[in-house]
Amino acid sequence: MLHRSARKLLARTHVLQCTFWSHEPLLNPVDSSAAAARVVSTLTSKTLDRDHSSNSDNVGYHWPITPRKGTSWRQQSYSTGFQKVGALQQGMAEMVSHVIPMPSDIRYADLIVKRSDHLQAKPSLDPLGLKFGALYTDHMLQVSWKEGSGWTAPSIDPVAPMTLHPCAQVLHYGSCCFEGMKAYKDKDQHLRLFRPDMNMDRLSRSAACLTLPEFDKVELLECIKELVRVERDWVPAKEGFSLYIRPTIIGTHPFLGLSPTREAMLFVVLSPVGPYFPGGLNPIKLFVETEVVRAYPGGVGDKKVGGNYAPTMLPQLRSTQRGCSQALYVLQDGHPGGGIVGESGAMNIFFLFQQEGTMELVTPPLNGLILPGVTRDTILTIARDFGNMKVSERQLRFGEIEDAAKTGRLLEVFGTGTACAVQPVTGLLKNDNTEITIPFDSEAAAHWLAKLPGMALAQPGTDEPFSLCGRLTRILLDYQYGKVESPWSVPIDP
Ligand code: COI
Repeated sequence: MLHRSARKLLARTHVLQCTFWSHEPLLNPVDSSAAAARVVSTLTSKTLDRDHSSNSDNVGYHWPITPRKGTSWRQQSYSTGFQKVGALQQGMAEMVSHVIPMPSDIRYADLIVKRSDHLQAKPSLDPLGLKFGALYTDHMLQVSWKEGSGWTAPSIDPVAPMTLHPCAQVLHYGSCCFEGMKAYKDKDQHLRLFRPDMNMDRLSRSAACLTLPEFDKVELLECIKELVRVERDWVPAKEGFSLYIRPTIIGTHPFLGLSPTREAMLFVVLSPVGPYFPGGLNPIKLFVETEVVRAYPGGVGDKKVGGNYAPTMLPQLRSTQRGCSQALYVLQDGHPGGGIVGESGAMNIFFLFQQEGTMELVTPPLNGLILPGVTRDTILTIARDFGNMKVSERQLRFGEIEDAAKTGRLLEVFGTGTACAVQPVTGLLKNDNTEITIPFDSEAAAHWLAKLPGMALAQPGTDEPFSLCGRLTRILLDYQYGKVESPWSVPIDP
């Protein structure tokens, strides 16, 4: 173990190196002294943070120095010890005047951590008390962006209200996109994410369609991992519970004209969650929404933008008033076979049909009208691997569902999503108050849920009860909680 003062010096040296790799917006020669001052103040806050956590043996090792291509001149000029700060500050003005302007990207090496002095008590793991999205942890990640200069250094700060100009684009034109991902604690208390690369890709696509800025997906993910590490005590250690991660990007440019975004902010908040629908695998009913259109061809229904969600609040209210948990969006196009089945706002939807001697699991295709769900993709992959049923991504008209239900061929319906995982559905209530009922065998589902890790992957025995929903849920949970290793489960280094 290094002597404490040696570790501190090492930490400071690392911090300084990181700072100079960090391409603090050194764009305009006029701004160069200010940039140098910012560099030093960044250094100070990082050093303070290292000092703050100096009782940890990990001091100095959370800031990997990963040189970026084409920046070696900075390493040669500035990768130096803490003592040289004064000289650097003086010399910076001349040196930066030769820099070719290059907008900065998000970089984990630049991350600043400011810990809160007021930590909240952690909640108890009561599925009813831990209402989805109602509680937030103590810290958040934030980083802002400006056209021309790019992203500032990301920081982890105590959660606090944000200041926005009243003319910020997000407040008027809904320039907002977000993600939903989760951190899980495995049996060894290690933290894990599930397919986070898919969330980073989707966030990037959502941002692009709103002219919100691009970002380095790998670097952002590293910053998110650090936030989860900081909040590791908030990650519930119980199956069915997790830490919900909400990365969000908003347009902050104070401008009432309609124009592409010139200023933005990316932030990530965390919320400890239990089951999205209290009661776990207890089935729900959906209201068949045929009047409000959630998505349409050529729209942004396949992006996770705030504008797709705000107009679903009213259908959601109407659904709950009619005893349903959510709406199922069915796009009417006058076709005699009924409207086109989409998704339900917080979930993708799956239907299991009995078809001439076989079964077919159907979910709507990725045609721009539904969100490309991470859980959706995972369930499709697992079900295809079973090899005992046809698995289709195809257009589904509501008439086909009604026919199958009438003839007893509609075997199961379930929704999937990050928030809800797998959610059985036993009723589809139509506007005329008639209801399609769907079977759900709770004992069969419980049989599959009780299986030991990995056992649900084995072919079912001939005497085993049938529950596709139960079997898929067991396998999904095994992967998410790292009970069965897979490349999908991404461990967060301690
Ligand atoms: C998610 O599943 O992560 C979602 O974003 C659903 C949310 C609208 C509650």
